[in-house]
Amino acid sequence: MPVFDAFFRLHSLTPSRLVCSSHDLVYYRSVPKSLQGPSLPSFLCVVLCLTSCAWGGDAPTLNGYRPQWWKEAVVYQIYPRSFKDSNGDGIGDLKGISSKLDYLKDLGVDVIWLSPHFDSPNADNGYDIRDYRKVMAEFGTMADFDEMLKGIKQRHMKLLLDLVVNHTSDEHAWFVESRKAKDNPYRDYYIWRAGRDGNPPNNWSSFFSGSAWKQDPATGEYYLHLFAEKQPDLNWDNPKVRNEVYDLMKFWLDKGVDGFRMDVIPFISKDPALPDYPKEYEGRVQYFYAAGPKVHDYIREMNREVLSQYDVMTVGEAFGVSLEQTPLLVDERRNELNMIFNFDAIRLGRQSWRLNPWTLPELKAVYTKLDQKLDAHNWGTVFLSNHDNPRVVSRFGDDSPQYRVASAKALATMLLTLKGTPFIYQGDELAMTNYPFTKIEDFNDIEVKNAWKAEVLTHQVTAEDYIASLRKTSRDNSRTPMQWDDSANGGFTTAPKAWLAVNPNSNEINAKQAVADPDSVYHYFQKLIALRKKTPALVYGDYKDLDPQHPSVFAYTRTLGALRYLVVLNLSSQAVTYLVPAGQKVGSVILSNRPGKESATSVLRLRPWDARIYRF
Ligand code: NOJ
Repeated sequence: MPVFDAFFRLHSLTPSRLVCSSHDLVYYRSVPKSLQGPSLPSFLCVVLCLTSCAWGGDAPTLNGYRPQWWKEAVVYQIYPRSFKDSNGDGIGDLKGISSKLDYLKDLGVDVIWLSPHFDSPNADNGYDIRDYRKVMAEFGTMADFDEMLKGIKQRHMKLLLDLVVNHTSDEHAWFVESRKAKDNPYRDYYIWRAGRDGNPPNNWSSFFSGSAWKQDPATGEYYLHLFAEKQPDLNWDNPKVRNEVYDLMKFWLDKGVDGFRMDVIPFISKDPALPDYPKEYEGRVQYFYAAGPKVHDYIREMNREVLSQYDVMTVGEAFGVSLEQTPLLVDERRNELNMIFNFDAIRLGRQSWRLNPWTLPELKAVYTKLDQKLDAHNWGTVFLSNHDNPRVVSRFGDDSPQYRVASAKALATMLLTLKGTPFIYQGDELAMTNYPFTKIEDFNDIEVKNAWKAEVLTHQVTAEDYIASLRKTSRDNSRTPMQWDDSANGGFTTAPKAWLAVNPNSNEINAKQAVADPDSVYHYFQKLIALRKKTPALVYGDYKDLDPQHPSVFAYTRTLGALRYLVVLNLSSQAVTYLVPAGQKVGSVILSNRPGKESATSVLRLRPWDARIYRF
């Protein structure tokens, strides 16, 4: 019976993991008793499931969703420069990553997203690519890449590459040609315009300060760069550019990589009239840049030409795409991307490099709204940190010695139990913290240096104000090297100095300590990941925020038929007596970040940063 076979062949679904969306029948053979729903002989279960599940055309569904490996995966982001140095030059490399694959496998992650590893002059640490088919010399060779990929596959993990194709480096051969002359065959690979009365062609600003246009001496024309001057924007309206991109994608997919995280992908289409952006976009130009007229045409074309021919995972970095617009990129019926990163949660309270006060109800509202916008044909992501944002425990938790561990665990609970594919950033499994920056020389990031010149050196803001804010918001907080052990430079490198200073707390906060301590944040992540993997409700289940206005408690349910989970998080450094809303069953604790179990009561005495998952 082909349908029956198909049901069993679905990714990660075995007869022990069948869940029906249309009624309460669950058979959960490989799960501990405490997690089991009503069990039935498997044959009976299968027959009932086959006759009563929603079939959504020809494919079986779970709670209306088509099961896919990338919906069930837990992703771990590696910033290669800062992960592990194998050759003592102070810079992380691919061999370093290979040497730590067992550590990642033990953590339980399924997919590695590797920030750019391509040849680059490093104006923006690899997000300025000089040659898409070459490995950055500092990171190693193509043989090292192949070896790393082999090691990932041997451990049954997958690899996502970072596709940076809104722009290249100005040292890319295409741009080297393009800037030579107006009639150069590569001229139209980039966006060139004459100036306006001796000024740039329009008022567009760069994310890295100043105008987004740079005049080039060879022809006197300006080229567009939404990021650094050394990152000229490609002209996606040129079909040759699109075909070049599709070819380089195939080059890596044919090597066996499993998909892409796509850098600022909504910015690829520009309004050909290149109009000034209207006043209302001042300070939020990303919403303007993401609204180009052909973005969906180009992504659909990319899907048709490349993505649809492989079993891949795609996640678009969608800065400037609102929660409302998300389905336009990820609705599976549109054949564009699998999922995107929305920035509403991670950028809450952010105004450029400043962090303004924000509230928990505002954060909760983001997840509810996203859930409302995404029906079963859409899929989301959950992330609280990455290489462009500060450390999660410092940003959303409390990194004081008293609460660092508890708050990191509470945030991990949230990350792994909200709806959407979770992304862990390297070092968050150790609760690594922000760096104690004191002066501009402590920073590496081009964004920081440019804004210093544009705002501090012009006396618009004081150095103290700027540095104090950057201690909270700078991207360099998350780029300091991984802390592997308590030796010099946190065991990241044998060089006397790493490319960016290691956090001085590496003697206490490091992987060696965390792996040895059964109570560590690392081991708590392990438990959460394992729980998520065996609990379809935490992947495909409905999400409901029980108490949207509570100022410090985040309480929500994830339910799928008879599998019903209540997550209660005290996201504050104050104890709270929390009354579970009337009518909501509590059940018994199946995982918590601290010992002591309060079950089957609706009055919960929550200590600061307590996190509990109940089965009810
Ligand atoms: C987004 C990347 O995440 C960031 O690191 C980079 O600076 C910009 N895109 C430009 O590529």
